[in-house]
Amino acid sequence: MVSRVIPVNPFDLVLFGATGDLAQRKILPGLYHRFEVGQMPEEARIIGTARSDMDSDGFRDQIRASMNEFAPAFKKDLLDQFLSRVEYVPVDALGKAGWAELAKILRPDVVRAFYLSVGPNLFSGIAQRLNDHDLATPDSRIVVEKPFGHDLASAKALNEGLRACFEEHQIYRIDHYLGKETVQNLMALRFANSLFEPLWNSTHVDHVQITVAETVGVGGRGAYYDQSGAMRDMIQNHLVQLLCLTAMEPPSKFSPNAVRDEKVKVIEALEPVAQADIARGQYRTDKSGDGYLDHVENPASRTESFIALKAHIGNWRWAGVPFYLRTGKRLRARESEIAVFFRDPPHTIFPNVGPLHGNVLVIRLQPDEGITLRTTIKEPGQGGFRLSDVALDMSFADALGDESQSPDAYERLVMDVIRGDQTLFMRGDEAEAAWAWVDPIVKGWEERGDRPARYDQGSSGPEEALMLMHRDGRRWRQIGG
Ligand code: BG6
Repeated sequence: MVSRVIPVNPFDLVLFGATGDLAQRKILPGLYHRFEVGQMPEEARIIGTARSDMDSDGFRDQIRASMNEFAPAFKKDLLDQFLSRVEYVPVDALGKAGWAELAKILRPDVVRAFYLSVGPNLFSGIAQRLNDHDLATPDSRIVVEKPFGHDLASAKALNEGLRACFEEHQIYRIDHYLGKETVQNLMALRFANSLFEPLWNSTHVDHVQITVAETVGVGGRGAYYDQSGAMRDMIQNHLVQLLCLTAMEPPSKFSPNAVRDEKVKVIEALEPVAQADIARGQYRTDKSGDGYLDHVENPASRTESFIALKAHIGNWRWAGVPFYLRTGKRLRARESEIAVFFRDPPHTIFPNVGPLHGNVLVIRLQPDEGITLRTTIKEPGQGGFRLSDVALDMSFADALGDESQSPDAYERLVMDVIRGDQTLFMRGDEAEAAWAWVDPIVKGWEERGDRPARYDQGSSGPEEALMLMHRDGRRWRQIGG
């Protein structure tokens, strides 16, 4: 199997927030990699902008330092060539300075991408200034990072601000989970194989578990995180997207709007979640005196760093099938997976056998990407007929070797922007629909002033999350098991 690299059209990519963490850690190293593999054409240019007053050489030095830190496997001569395509213009995002200089260096005849690696409070203002300075040509795209709002009202305001200056087909809302290779593979698994589809419904599926467990804490993002919590930071976007790809109907074709239409239908069919079906947690201070409250520097914080909930999709395919979503920080292992539990056989012919829960299809998203199908077999040996579970296991690394080394999610997504392919980006109505589902859930615990339960760092989350499952006679898959 040989992966193909198809060069994209010449472009000017203007990166707002170019000196920021995401740009330096992910976007610029990602662009370098695309250059290294030959996807970036000769005429491509990257123009960094930020408030800092420096020249292009100063910016290039900064990128060199970031590459040394975050992507040290670069080739020096290639990095020099890459950097010769990079420039810098200081721009005051909401002021006047720098815009005329930026306008001067942009070329009229190439694809233009404005990548806003800045806070959402700057999205509309930057879009407006791009418009005022006639920088938004018909062949321009605007890319915005998450969080896309804090609730439905703010997401609507952001959509309005962007749509005042750009058409929806020019707006690229990033959810980097959609750029992950295995997440895309979920679509291949479902829609390029005939094996699973007949079983993919409430007749055969007992329940689904979607887990995104992290070992990291809130790091240096305490101020942002404490205003968001796991529900807004992870469920509203990444886990809802995973749920959509798992649950959506087959689109009629693999085109941006056909795929996104089906995803929106899933989100709109999500039923309200009862407070009893939610478990929230906050990681406790450990022996070293280090805990969530210290990280966010807010001893009274009631924000959750862990959440588990039971969602239902009110449509014919999924009626009555719970989708359990779980995500948290400072957990036992970094592990993201989707596990589809199939129903037991309707009648068991084997004596002394309780519920089997034998058939589980697990799609491992990270790390060790792969697919496992748990099946029930006869335990080998004489004397009685005992059953046990074995796994049909496929690891992408074993099956594909070097080919399994897929580009980072950001690399893929930035190149899709240049190509003009919106399939892996959230549409405006999709983001709003997700907030419309999330808002009342958050409002419920905010109004009651609920405190999240404490959980130990390095655990699987609070007891309450286990109880959520036990009450339904089910169990979570073990994190790091
Ligand atoms: C981000 C969240 O969107 O995704 C972070 O804001 C989280 O809190 C991160 O840590 C997880 O991404 P990944 O790719 O490391 O799973």
